[in-house]
Amino acid sequence: MSTPIVESLAAQPPRVDSRLPHVGTTIFTVMSALANEHGAVNLGQGFPDFDCDLALVDAVNQAMREGLNQYPPMAGVPALRKAVSDKVATLYGHRYDADREVTITAGATQAIITAVLAVVHPGDEVIVLEPCYDSYGPSIELAGGRVVRVPLTPRSFRPDFDLIRRALTSRTRAIIVNTPHNPSGTAWSEHDIESLAQVLRGTDVLVLSDEVYEHMVFDGGTHQSVARHPELAQRSFIISSFGKTYHVTGWKVGYVCAPAPLMDEFRKVHQFNVFTVNTPMQHGLARYMADPAPYLELPGFYQAKRDRFRAGLAGTRFRLLPSEGSYFQCVDYSAISQLKEEDFCRWLTSEAGVAAIPLSAFYASGFEQQIVRFCFAKQDATLDKALERLARL
Ligand SMILES: Cc1ncc(COP(=O)(O)O)c(C=O)c1O
Repeated sequence: MSTPIVESLAAQPPRVDSRLPHVGTTIFTVMSALANEHGAVNLGQGFPDFDCDLALVDAVNQAMREGLNQYPPMAGVPALRKAVSDKVATLYGHRYDADREVTITAGATQAIITAVLAVVHPGDEVIVLEPCYDSYGPSIELAGGRVVRVPLTPRSFRPDFDLIRRALTSRTRAIIVNTPHNPSGTAWSEHDIESLAQVLRGTDVLVLSDEVYEHMVFDGGTHQSVARHPELAQRSFIISSFGKTYHVTGWKVGYVCAPAPLMDEFRKVHQFNVFTVNTPMQHGLARYMADPAPYLELPGFYQAKRDRFRAGLAGTRFRLLPSEGSYFQCVDYSAISQLKEEDFCRWLTSEAGVAAIPLSAFYASGFEQQIVRFCFAKQDATLDKALERLARL
């Protein structure tokens, strides 16, 4: 009887060679599931546990009620592109043309992969500075590029420009930089930006500058956008996220600014991998951006949370690393445990009731430093509850 064989063959989906064979479930998903299972305070995944400004929700609602519910222009709603262009010009002194040089994206992650697909050809090399956000490597690999991993200096997480210079080859197409930095919480200085410009001078290397935490720089520091540096701005895609700035990570709306020739290439890819981003969110964000106060007040808002969290941690056996920006605080746990970082995070979640993320998860090699990352974008009560538990260790 041949029928059963045919049926069983037909029941199998065709075999697929994975484009990303090394990618599995991310540590963020794993730790969040473990946190739920154990009723732990989740300081792992990077998102706020408080709501956004209801005025922003009202602005989106109003746009929907006004009937702004159909496809917007491919590059984004003009009013939002203008609001972004105005903000960047005011804060960083570089005017991007709202029509040709600003594009609204479905969050920063889509912006990053779209920029990579737009400029990276098979065999091109792209430098990433590790530890880094987990989408960079797979985006480069999907474009057929080669990921060249340059470490930030262990424990201080400062960029080492000699190492970056040595990593440049005739095949280098781009470098991805990120300030303020996830996961370390460091922020680049003006000197760092100048050093980057020097290293790249005379090359055709492009910069993908991930600036999603641009409005979270503390202690009176200045966000060092590559837009501030005319020479770098000419070779850069700047990527940001309304999700981070306005406490709406689930809306997945962000933007990219780049000189027109780069943006032309970006839009060729963008129009086929998302085409457009949801219309009422864009109108709502454009109206909300008329008032700069929410983003101008953000450093103070998050600095207060950072200070509260650090003051509490000072009374524990964790050793604090600097947190100059972003909403992350890294700590050294070597006085508490000799476990490897991921094992320590699992133990911390299940036994102490607080979830964190191992820094090794941000290195392809799984490099170990006995450091974990906490996210302090949480209500004060959440932070206090976590601190109470951490103080017992
Ligand atoms: C450094 C960095 N870049 C990009 C993103 C993604 O932003 P979005 O949610 O807008 O895609 C994140 C989110 O955690 C991030 O930390």
